Amino acid sequence: MARPKIALIGGGQVGGNIALLSAQKELGDIVIIDIPQAENFIKAKALDISQLLPLDGYDAKLSGSSDFAAIKDSDVIVITAGFPRQPGMDREDLLKKNLDIMTNVAEQVKLHAPNAFVIVVSNPLDAMVYAFYKVSGFAKNKVVGMAGALDSARFRSFIAEATNLSSQDVTCMVLGGHGDTMVPVSRLATVGGVPLTSLLDADTIKAIEDRTRFGGGELVKLFGKGSAFYAPAQSAVEMIESFVKDKKRVIPCASLCEGEFNVDGYFIGVPTVIGADGVENILTFDLNDDEKNALNNTLTEVKKTVQETGL
Ligand code: 2OP
Repeated sequence: MARPKIALIGGGQVGGNIALLSAQKELGDIVIIDIPQAENFIKAKALDISQLLPLDGYDAKLSGSSDFAAIKDSDVIVITAGFPRQPGMDREDLLKKNLDIMTNVAEQVKLHAPNAFVIVVSNPLDAMVYAFYKVSGFAKNKVVGMAGALDSARFRSFIAEATNLSSQDVTCMVLGGHGDTMVPVSRLATVGGVPLTSLLDADTIKAIEDRTRFGGGELVKLFGKGSAFYAPAQSAVEMIESFVKDKKRVIPCASLCEGEFNVDGYFIGVPTVIGADGVENILTFDLNDDEKNALNNTLTEVKKTVQETGL
């Protein structure tokens, strides 16, 4: 059986790290696509990673190209193309800049890889995944946005730090849009099955929620130029892995809701089952009143950015 083909549209910091981490997990053969001015750069990344693999004994073929035809028949495509956030910019400021790029990418993906499962990473995430879906006309199970995996990983790391317990044992989720109104659901967070609410006081939990909400911005400020890339890349890799191995993991992802959590017609972060059919299911549960209000609030923000796309 041939290895899965993974196409990465955008070979910057996030794309490059997805290539490295996917190759090290032997998830498939990888082609990196970028603009002609960056072609040598991504060819170099592909070659460099190829030369690292023998050291660890992993097999994967990597290549780079500026020709979209190279994504032909990809099984999974991850789109990171677009400008990253700069200090002072929120994700929405990026919208106009990145919408043109996403429109072109969606047309090319539709042309060359019409059966691929597509993971959108570019910001502003909630609008970009919607734009891809609208322009490509792909089925809803074939399009998903990476945000909740990252936001939940941040939430997990902050919980681990505050409790001085292993992040491996922290289970939690962040729902809603990938912006400052996202909804960390502390009520359901656990460490080794023990409720977070019995491990930390309410003020500490509130501080962790706030830090999670602004987690991307904290990194934009610290980097001074561009945004986070290691954890975003690993988050996308979890999603690729669940798809190519049909693991059916439950990962918070921006999925198209059609009634789930009273959201209709928007991509928003919800617990999503990812398997061989792509988005196989959205798991719903009862929210309490505060969580419902918070989700309505984040939905209002998501609708605003989606409306700005004019799609
Ligand atoms: C983040 O949250 C870049 O949106 C991404 O770091």
